[in-house]
Amino acid sequence: MRKKIALIGGGQIGQIQAMLAAQRELGDVVILDIPDLENRVKGKALDLMEMAPHGNYDANLTGTSNYQDIAGADVVIITAGMPRKPGMSREDLLSTNIGIIKPIAENVKKVVPKAFCIIVTNPLDAMVYVFHKVTGFPKNQVCGMAGALDTARWRSFIAMELGVSVEDVSGTVLGGHGPTMVPLPRLTTVGGVPLTEIMDPLTVKKVVTRTREAGTEIVKLLGNGSAFFSPSWSSIVMAESYLKDKKRIITCAALCEGEYGIHGLFIGVPARIGSGGVEKIYEIKLNGEEKASLAQTVEAVKKTVSECQI
Ligand code: APR
Repeated sequence: MRKKIALIGGGQIGQIQAMLAAQRELGDVVILDIPDLENRVKGKALDLMEMAPHGNYDANLTGTSNYQDIAGADVVIITAGMPRKPGMSREDLLSTNIGIIKPIAENVKKVVPKAFCIIVTNPLDAMVYVFHKVTGFPKNQVCGMAGALDTARWRSFIAMELGVSVEDVSGTVLGGHGPTMVPLPRLTTVGGVPLTEIMDPLTVKKVVTRTREAGTEIVKLLGNGSAFFSPSWSSIVMAESYLKDKKRIITCAALCEGEYGIHGLFIGVPARIGSGGVEKIYEIKLNGEEKASLAQTVEAVKKTVSECQI
């Protein structure tokens, strides 16, 4: 029997996730959106079914607004909510998106209490916190996508600066999904060569800043909405690692309970994702400067979470 992936929110990100999940034959896909947009997601799903002969995949794709249709899903990925417009911070979405995430969490809890849940909706660190509080799911069953995307951006910008294959750039970005995130140049390598030995400090600084502002750079360029290709891929890679028990180490917003000295917050940390969900968080020995940056991002996430009043 095929696995089943439920996508809550069938907008810009949801539709690309559906396409990627089908192309990678991760399983059958159900796209759920609000009743007013039920036909739109039915149409998107049908369009993807009709792409299958050229895409060479076997997957059943459907659209719905009825939670009963996601019953039996192995993975739930949530993108429902407002994206940013130019001039907005992710935090500006807080009150609108809390109102959307809470009922979704209640429905997911009722219908698919065992599913592995990946939250993409912004402000991400707060939305995953709210989702976890409302569902009361075990911590290994819930995570947020951000670190996977932030790390992908970091790796892309380094490859672009150096003119090398992105495949050879390895590194991670810790912390919250916002301008305080913590790229780690000291621990980044390019084909095994330390980044700090082949990139001058000024360029490193420039890439750190660009990574922190990457989402905003796209929002400005698009003019209406936020990034959708890269968040889609980042979340599908996480779902794939769970569904296939690949045990990839992917930086994602995981619930820290003492790791890095952080208590009770979802924050971007390297984690092993396998059939047990978030199976393990890896702690990196940070130097003084990195610890200070992490402390700053933790404060920023704490502030947003405190505004959730949950
Ligand atoms: N249930 C299901 N779907 C919903 C609900 C709900 N209660 N409320 C809104 N949606 C749907 C919208 O109808 C829309 O189709 O969520 C979808 C969001 O799609 P877009 O507006 O295209 O936004 P997108 O670019 O996909 O981003 C979604 O992810 O990265 C974050 O900041 C981004 O918060 C935003 C989210």
